[in-house]
Amino acid sequence: MNSMTQLQPVTIYKDQFGREKRKLRISVTDRCNFKCVYCMPEHPEWMKKHNLLSFEALYSFCEFMVQRGIEQIRITGGEPLMRQGVVHFIEQLQPLKKNGLKRISMTTNGHYLKQYAKVLKQAGLDDLNISLDSLDEAQFFQLTQKQLKSVLEGIDAAKNAGFSIKINAVLMKGVNDQQIIPLTYWAQQQCFELRFIEFMPLDGDQNWTKDSVVTEQEILTTLKTVFEVNILHGQGASPARSYEVNGLPIGIISTISNSFCGSCDRLRLNAQGEFFNCLFAKKGLDLGKDIRSLKSTLSKNENPLDVLNMQNKLGSYIWHKEQGFHTITATSNSNTRKISMHMIGG
Ligand code: GTP
Ligand code: 5AD
Ligand code: SF4
Repeated sequence: MNSMTQLQPVTIYKDQFGREKRKLRISVTDRCNFKCVYCMPEHPEWMKKHNLLSFEALYSFCEFMVQRGIEQIRITGGEPLMRQGVVHFIEQLQPLKKNGLKRISMTTNGHYLKQYAKVLKQAGLDDLNISLDSLDEAQFFQLTQKQLKSVLEGIDAAKNAGFSIKINAVLMKGVNDQQIIPLTYWAQQQCFELRFIEFMPLDGDQNWTKDSVVTEQEILTTLKTVFEVNILHGQGASPARSYEVNGLPIGIISTISNSFCGSCDRLRLNAQGEFFNCLFAKKGLDLGKDIRSLKSTLSKNENPLDVLNMQNKLGSYIWHKEQGFHTITATSNSNTRKISMHMIGG
């Protein structure tokens, strides 16, 4: 086999609506040192450590998926920097860039970046998305149970390490919607791309209501009271619609009022090997066992039947991915399965 043929994906996973899957999100832990009201339940039941997939197993799965067309891997949590060994894992993934992987990214609450930004950059992490829902210290504490200072220091450290950074702000009506203007000024001053996110019904204690969502239209109306706002076209498979605000980019992720499901190219795996074809999927696919045995299968180049088996099992599950958030929630009694964002990583 020459190197050209090695670069061709075995197959590219597609769903029944023709959406090719190019992005894989891996949640490496459900644990988090924050308690964001829109995410963590009051009394989380953590996954048992012995049930977590090892980084070796995760590497084999990533290798398997890159051979099947995955171009971006995003490491998420809980808080991914709470899992020991994650920096080394990012280093281990680098060779997959020769097989078609284009980016390795991370979504983090920013708290540990002061300590980890430099080593993450050295390990080859390409970019960071950092959550920041308020610039008001007291409100930040109320929302997360942690100090704003550590996150701002983490963001500084990431900037100094040379990362490309996006800031995620989840808005909740009557809670932090007055932060739209201050966050925009701050992000523009820092030259960060800021994305406002509509609150989704994935909070651990299921307190979400439609009334608590600040919609894309409402965000735009507020922005227009101060800034000149223009839409930028070409959303592609990005979850955010892009706007130019006083000449600088701002994104809005509006799953509730204007979802991007039509172009969704994402797949996700949680820390114990449950695979989801959609953030709102009613049912995951338990791949824990298959992924654990994948390592020896791939390295010894034996049991091709096992590999084929997993390829087909995954292919069939991905194929049956539903149209999106609105069709899933319209056909069920409750809004979502009982899972909170910290278990799947957004
Ligand atoms: P890039 O576009 O690669 O920068 O990453 P991202 O925006 O997908 O990642 P991030 O982890 O920063 O997520 C930002 C917000 O988008 C979070 O609220 C996620 O839950 C949401 N999001 C990510 N993927 C999906 C998805 O497949 N469906 C929906 N509805 N929301 C998603
Ligand atoms: N709705 C919208 N976004 C959420 N996030 C966490 N929970 C929710 C929710 N219920 C966001 C976080 C983080 C990303 C992984 O998901 O702010 O940026
Ligand atoms: Fe932790 Fe992120 Fe959930 Fe906040 S959104 S509790 S930082 S996992």
